Amino acid sequence: MLAVGPNGAGKTNLLESLHLGTQGFSPRTRSDAQLIRFGERASRVAVRGRRAGGAPIEIELVLGAADGRRARVNGAPLRAAEQLRAEVATLVFTPDRLAVVKGGPAVRRSYLDRALARLYPARAGLSTSYAAAVGQRNAALRRVALGFSTRDALEPWTESVAGLGAELVAARTDAVALLTPVFAERARELGLPDAALAYAAEPPTVGSLSTRLERDLERGTTGAGPHLDDVGIASGTRELRTYGSQGEQRLAVLSLLLAEAELIAERTGAPPLLLLDDVLSELDPQRRRVLAERVASRGQTLVTSTTAAALPTQPDQLLEVVPGEVRVA
Ligand SMILES: Nc1ncnc2c1ncn2[C@@H]1O[C@H](COP(=O)(O)OP(=O)(O)OP(=O)(O)O)[C@@H](O)[C@H]1O
Ligand SMILES: [Mg+2]
Repeated sequence: MLAVGPNGAGKTNLLESLHLGTQGFSPRTRSDAQLIRFGERASRVAVRGRRAGGAPIEIELVLGAADGRRARVNGAPLRAAEQLRAEVATLVFTPDRLAVVKGGPAVRRSYLDRALARLYPARAGLSTSYAAAVGQRNAALRRVALGFSTRDALEPWTESVAGLGAELVAARTDAVALLTPVFAERARELGLPDAALAYAAEPPTVGSLSTRLERDLERGTTGAGPHLDDVGIASGTRELRTYGSQGEQRLAVLSLLLAEAELIAERTGAPPLLLLDDVLSELDPQRRRVLAERVASRGQTLVTSTTAAALPTQPDQLLEVVPGEVRVA
């Protein structure tokens, strides 16, 4: 599907509401106020579709209600809007996502943790549990440093940081191993040769944490563990964060997204909905064609653009976006 309209017409709004309506949150902001039309007090997104097996699904999400976000699937209320993620898979590319390649290690870590949560739902809570354990240990370190607590009191936190840290490193290693070959293949098709992901992390152990205890006490933070790791994204010997061109960085993010989409389809039997905002700008005609053909051969994809001519293939559906309205052309 191609959504076309001039700057400011509402293409990104449309894409964002599809994300909100299928995942329960916006890819851009955590603030509900930004997702409600100026001057209004609530907003509602309703999505109708079919599951992979053909069964109909209707989702309704309301923001701005007195009790926060409310989501329903086929009329049945969910405990939290975030539970929508377990119902429908949606992957999004927006120009902000370039930060996965260009940004600091924290962006790549959280990207990888979100990807592993989608690929291994049973391990989805790991990164949050690990972050909580590190937070608890850091608070305990500061209490010991101030003399309010003894070193013995640190032990349970050190053990949970080591245990959860090792599990998180293992889960990230598995996710990277799963993603790498598909990522490299999609990148090669898109003209980014020898693309690779690299995650080489030492899992923390009680021993390694104890050796650096004096330093940790001095700083009041846990100075080793997967909360400080990075993931390398390279083409051949070039690290794309530093040496990639804008277009190459975009191709790397897209290849990651396509790889993840394929793996999710393989694992769940249903291809995720792909939302690609402003994806065509900065890509040369040959790469646009490869991308268009690749997305045409999979599940549902929505691409936005200011001109219909930017997409080198014929979309199954063309949407014209004008302020306040979307028309099927
Ligand atoms: N909460 C809001 N209420 C009403 N209008 C808003 C709100 N938030 C943003 N807008 C406006 O909606 C308009 C459409 O924005 P949108 O980002 O969807 O445009 P677009 O079609 O994606 O444009 P571009 O081609 O430049 O990316 C903008 O003018 C923006 O200021
Ligand atoms: Mg836009």
